[in-house]
Amino acid sequence: MLNVGIIGASGYAGEELIEILLRHGSVRITYLAAKIDKPDNITKIFPKFKGRIDLPCEEPQLNKLLSRCDLVFLALPHTQSMYWVPRILEAGKKVIDLSADYRLKNISVYEAFYKTAHTDKANVKKAVYGLPELYRQEIRSADLIANPGCYPTAAILAIAPALVGDFIERDCIFIDAKSGASGAGRKIIQELTFTEVNENLKAYKINTHQHMPEIEQELSKIAHHLLKINFVPHLLAVNRGILETIYLKLKRPLTSKQVIDIYQRFYKKEPFIRILEEGNNPQLKDVIYTNFCDLGINVDKDRRALVLVCAIDNLQKGASGQAVQNMNIMYGFSETEGLL
Ligand SMILES: NC(=O)c1ccc[n+]([C@@H]2O[C@H](COP(=O)([O-])OP(=O)(O)OC[C@H]3O[C@@H](n4cnc5c(N)ncnc54)[C@H](OP(=O)(O)O)[C@@H]3O)[C@@H](O)[C@H]2O)c1
Repeated sequence: MLNVGIIGASGYAGEELIEILLRHGSVRITYLAAKIDKPDNITKIFPKFKGRIDLPCEEPQLNKLLSRCDLVFLALPHTQSMYWVPRILEAGKKVIDLSADYRLKNISVYEAFYKTAHTDKANVKKAVYGLPELYRQEIRSADLIANPGCYPTAAILAIAPALVGDFIERDCIFIDAKSGASGAGRKIIQELTFTEVNENLKAYKINTHQHMPEIEQELSKIAHHLLKINFVPHLLAVNRGILETIYLKLKRPLTSKQVIDIYQRFYKKEPFIRILEEGNNPQLKDVIYTNFCDLGINVDKDRRALVLVCAIDNLQKGASGQAVQNMNIMYGFSETEGLL
């Protein structure tokens, strides 16, 4: 049995990790921590876990964490993980970090978008970007996983095959993204209260969202070319789910059927990618509470336009589900264990 701990256990991503790990046959949760004044049983924080787990959730303590865990999930706000990662790695343990602290290889870009100094630059170089469909080989031997952001997961999975196939204009990538309110976490924020979000849809952080450089970094790596994208996130009045509509320009005439064939070949062996048949497009209700990424492909031949529609659950494939998928690869478990 693999002993795992979670710091940030009282947040949405932490809750989802507990839920998935309790279904996992080869893992035991041995330590739970959060920013908490008085330790409380996790079942007091999330009553739904009553009868399934009996562990306190307490202020994190390094000695307890290291003595009880082989692997630590960090489900902390960005800027908090970089305190824990070097301490856990030095003790010879492994980390899957769900925050953004180790995703961006260019430190000055991280510091500009996250408005904070990075205090663990050395480990940024070692971190493997945890998108299994592209980096499975590197994930197998990694000690530190930078688990991808939710919007980037959908965008990169949708656009990667088109860049590898080199059939789209690289300077014409428009991503219209919509996320449910759990994407911003469980902490209380005025503009995320029910009455502000309910029956509303709005764009936010246009050209300034912190996931924009992450998408650019990863797509540039795939294209072997420095790419710039246009990314417009929206807050959607649902609890969970991300739907992205991506507008691309074809370099050469292709039909929907031909592009679908290319995508099906690219993701042939992937257990969590579902390419929809011609004329079909994803909807949130088919992916929420799952680790699936659904992709719809639409070509308008007259306009050389390729419109991709991609849907994931922000807390599963966009966070905790993907984190467990990474753990499964790192430890040689079945990749779908706990996730199907
Ligand atoms: N939500 C998503 O859809 C999503 C998707 C992809 C990635 N992520 C990333 O995953 C991470 C967690 O997100 P979330 O949505 O779960 O956030 P959240 O609901 O706000 O939870 C944050 C957790 O971190 C704990 N925490 C905060 N500061 C801490 C500190 N200094 N020491 C120890 N614990 C601390 C909080 O404890 P208290 O509850 O006691 O304050 C809580 O348990 C973030 O980096 C986020 O960007 C989230």
